[in-house]
Amino acid sequence: MSEWVTAFAPASIGNVAVGFDMLGLALEGVGDRVRARRVDDEGVVIAEVRGLDGDIHPYLSTDPTSNTASIAAQALWAAQGADGGLEISVLKGIPLQSGMGSSAASAVAAVVAANALLDAPLERKDLLAYALIGEQYASGGLHADNVAPSLLGGLVLCPQILLPEVRRLPVPDGLSAVLVHPDLQVNTAVARKGLAKGYSIQDWLAQQGLLAGFVLACAENDKELVAKTLKDLVIEPQRKASVPCFDTVKQAAMKAGALGCSLSGSGPSMFALAATGDARNVAIAMQQASRSVGIACESWVSPLDAPGAHVESG
Ligand code: HSE
Repeated sequence: MSEWVTAFAPASIGNVAVGFDMLGLALEGVGDRVRARRVDDEGVVIAEVRGLDGDIHPYLSTDPTSNTASIAAQALWAAQGADGGLEISVLKGIPLQSGMGSSAASAVAAVVAANALLDAPLERKDLLAYALIGEQYASGGLHADNVAPSLLGGLVLCPQILLPEVRRLPVPDGLSAVLVHPDLQVNTAVARKGLAKGYSIQDWLAQQGLLAGFVLACAENDKELVAKTLKDLVIEPQRKASVPCFDTVKQAAMKAGALGCSLSGSGPSMFALAATGDARNVAIAMQQASRSVGIACESWVSPLDAPGAHVESG
């Protein structure tokens, strides 16, 4: 048996309002950890899964066929033909079904830890495919907008049609992300099944224009264009009813000076982009709004260039 290696992978904002399934943003200061070590027996076993409080997780089992971390690590280990197997432990720092990329972060942390134990570790970008295998198990779809920013950090453009090509985008100066997690749960796989299957050409043109404009705004450091384009005309209207505080929280964010506000992934978390000097007030306003309708919540403020996953020890 080898020494333990521990990897951290950050939470992330999927879609970033404007780019459904193809734009994601890493968050600083919140994420999952996976510890891994080589063992003689083949396959990946999970020694334990612990929750936010450090106790054994009440909902996640140690069955390696039903955890994104072990599924992703197994995919990497098998593809590399590595000898023996792995024992892993998962420490969840991200609430389940929160819209913060919880399943993706576990998968990313697992492949980063497992990779560090290979005789010939892969380059970071080449781990994406294995983390996606884990994420696909959880969300029921092939989308990289949580896995890619969790792996690489920052704001990442990752359309399915270009995979495995994903690119970090430049981010505007002086902006921060605010993430508010109302104490609710939304199952991403269920939320995805509920989306309309067909859309009008008007909707398609409008959202395509907003995405192109947002990418340009980031490249040209144009905050007015960020504010004009940070909108989800198509998915948000279909999903916001699953977050009863959505309208109240969004209004509060915009009133406090946010440039835009929408669901994070499939929710219930919500995010806003704001000038860094306004971000703390935006977070407080969003939290107060959620609490005003009886829904407890917590919040984080993050730079737009938060680091991606990394090995912490080993
Ligand atoms: N793009 C995915 C969705 C992200 O919105 O379904 C889920 O976190």
